[in-house]
Amino acid sequence: MSFNIEETDRLLSTTRSVKKRLDLEREVSEELILDCIDVAEQAPTGGNQSSRRWLVVRDSKVKKEIAEMYREVGGQFLKEQSQRLDGTGHHNEKTIEASSYLAEHLEEVPVLVLVTIYGEHDGSGRPGLFDSVIQAAWSFCLALRSRGLGSAWTTMHLGNAEKIAELLNIPKGVTQVVLLPVAHTLGDDFSSVSRDPAREITWFESWGKTTQKSTNGAATFEDGPGIKVETDVKASPEKLWDLISDINLPSNFSDEFEGAEWLDETPEEGARFKGHNKNERMGEWEVTCYIKSFKPNKVFSWNVGDIENPAASWEFRLTPLAGATRLSFAMTLGPGPSGLTRGIESNPDMEKKIISNRQRDQYVNMRRTVEGIKELAEQD
Ligand SMILES: Cc1cc2nc3c(=O)[nH]c(=O)nc-3n(C[C@H](O)[C@H](O)[C@H](O)COP(=O)(O)O)c2cc1C
Repeated sequence: MSFNIEETDRLLSTTRSVKKRLDLEREVSEELILDCIDVAEQAPTGGNQSSRRWLVVRDSKVKKEIAEMYREVGGQFLKEQSQRLDGTGHHNEKTIEASSYLAEHLEEVPVLVLVTIYGEHDGSGRPGLFDSVIQAAWSFCLALRSRGLGSAWTTMHLGNAEKIAELLNIPKGVTQVVLLPVAHTLGDDFSSVSRDPAREITWFESWGKTTQKSTNGAATFEDGPGIKVETDVKASPEKLWDLISDINLPSNFSDEFEGAEWLDETPEEGARFKGHNKNERMGEWEVTCYIKSFKPNKVFSWNVGDIENPAASWEFRLTPLAGATRLSFAMTLGPGPSGLTRGIESNPDMEKKIISNRQRDQYVNMRRTVEGIKELAEQD
């Protein structure tokens, strides 16, 4: 029997972390919880062993103690962050506000489900320990959602895991993985949210290799092959922006890019700079680059050779993380003509190999570039 894909995809993409829309007044029946656990237990488990254990807490005194231990770890921090971000439009403003709300009201949620597993992470890398619990806990959340209930994945309590173990009589050798506050939801009109598209976070055949179009196996030029490298930097987007918007800087790290100079005065959309390159295979060449996007502290991207039909396009992007900034550097070959396309024309049978070699060279230089920028940015 086939699935209604639209419905299953809707379930999978709209199961949110529900924090402010949990119905704190309505009872949740034990049958519902057990049904959801039965569904969740269909998830894979290492060694095909039954090692997950689900602890369901309804007693208001016990819930209050758990809530206090939860808040002890980060309640004050969430409250202060929430006040600090209020009205700023910060990308995490709503999440922090909702987390703070949940922390304040945790004991009022009808049921707290603590998902645990027999085993302790001993760093051995052995499979089948608590790595077996996450997929089941998520299936539980999906099963809740399809029945009109909701939960939020929470781990803050783990900072007080020992105290919680004592409170709930959890024996040694059992690992707590996630605490799921469960309630009926207020309404069920949850939506999907914006996440990075698959093409931007999926590599093909080897780390960092991207394509713009579908390909089965090694990419052809038509597929829009590219490279993306990333690194997390302990520095602000502002500090990194000064480095990535310096068009000469990558020449310190790349063994192909020799330097660049501005042809237009103001770095803005459409402005040009000239880049100088050199490598063993292709000799020396110059390219005119056109700025595609220049958004301080966020994105700096440019097209090479022709704004509409570039030989290649490049992008530096900065994404704020908690306590760090992710620096990504991406490049796509084509669709316009270049030394590469001439190489392919004279050796069409070698197309995939030529592209793969080019991607490999670019990968090495781009990785050196982001690591070099990271080192500079993390200096005091
Ligand atoms: C590993 C992990 C730990 C989390 N811990 C907490 C937590 O302790 N408290 C909390 O309120 N939310 C926690 N969250 C929920 C995130 O804040 C939540 O995923 C975020 O609000 C995004 O919302 P969404 O899941 O609806 O996309 C956690 C999520 C994950 C994946």
